[in-house]
Amino acid sequence: MKAHFISDSVYCLHADVQTDELFEGIWPIPDGVSLNSYIVKGEKIALIDLVRDWIGAPQQLEAALSSVNLKFSDIDYLILNHLEPDHTGWLAEFRKLNPRAEVIATAKGINLVKSFYKIETGLRAVKDGDTLDLGAGKVLSFFETPNLHWPETMVTWDAQSGSLFTCDAFGSFGALGERVFDDEFNEKEHAFFEAETLRYYADIISSFSIFVDRAIQKLAGLDIKCVAPSHGIVWRKDPKEIIGRYKTYASWARGPAKKEIALIWGSMYGMTKTGLDALIRGIEKEGVPYSIRRVPDENVSWVLADAWKSSGIVIAMPTYEYAIFPPMAYVLDIFRRKHVFGKKVLRIGSWGWVGGAKKEYDATVEGLKWDSIESYEWAGSPTAEDLAALEAKGRELAQLIKKQP
Ligand code: FEO
Repeated sequence: MKAHFISDSVYCLHADVQTDELFEGIWPIPDGVSLNSYIVKGEKIALIDLVRDWIGAPQQLEAALSSVNLKFSDIDYLILNHLEPDHTGWLAEFRKLNPRAEVIATAKGINLVKSFYKIETGLRAVKDGDTLDLGAGKVLSFFETPNLHWPETMVTWDAQSGSLFTCDAFGSFGALGERVFDDEFNEKEHAFFEAETLRYYADIISSFSIFVDRAIQKLAGLDIKCVAPSHGIVWRKDPKEIIGRYKTYASWARGPAKKEIALIWGSMYGMTKTGLDALIRGIEKEGVPYSIRRVPDENVSWVLADAWKSSGIVIAMPTYEYAIFPPMAYVLDIFRRKHVFGKKVLRIGSWGWVGGAKKEYDATVEGLKWDSIESYEWAGSPTAEDLAALEAKGRELAQLIKKQP
């Protein structure tokens, strides 16, 4: 890996991680993820955000540093915008290579340095608006942006180059390869990263959408020429694009999203699926786009991304042992944790001996602020009457979605 030139004094270094290991121990990353760090040079040298010891990431970082004739021991300041270990896990090893570099983070971040890595010295806590003078006219500023993605998070601002170093905020899944800048990727590649940005947002950031709004408002006065996150593309040509994308994703937490329907289904012996097919015919007759995911076959990461972007949701599942089909219970729990609120939702499903999913389902979704239309359940295989009713239900939901602002 080599360093990428942002300005005379600013470079992006990145490590690509390709692994079957789950991100945060939960989320699949079949196309990898990048861990971006940044060098800012004045008379002193700052390294912004680190890596964890993950599939060669420290070695990739070292190679990128070397491409601009630097070593870890040359770093004067290590700025940690966010303490999650994907950006800090290698801190103790870094400290052994460079015991003199001062570690800079918010006060809450410094507490995490102590608790995660048992490092007690050479630490500096900064607060909102504090600056760090690197000499030669290079002054970095710090702005606290709590809960993007943890409470201790801040962003670092280099006014001279107009670069905003945002760590998790404005990031995405997906390894970068040899290119890092938005103007270096073609339309197809951008479509890939857009999907991975949405999935990253839904999986990692969605619970904190209100803090996304606050951060974007707080930083609105900066003349941002480059959005430099620590995952994914570095936006130097069109920084407003990624900020706008995050603004849109955050707005979906409190109001209508795209005029689409996310169909999420599970079926034991195909009876619920037969009913769902009838419902889909109704949606198609109304011309409303939809996505479809089967659980547990498809990972909840993609289910969540589809649900986040859609104004409508269909939950199709059979009753299982008098209660919710267990894989769907997990999906609903994730929806609650990730604040999948404000959707128009229809639940359908078959039952064998007796119903029972309804009671548990109603209690489970109570806190989700969903606008639910009347569920439709049937015994065993759907009859012709059931299929006609389900098609009508599909049309009803699709019409509601079309009417949304
Ligand atoms: Fe990329 Fe919240 O860590």
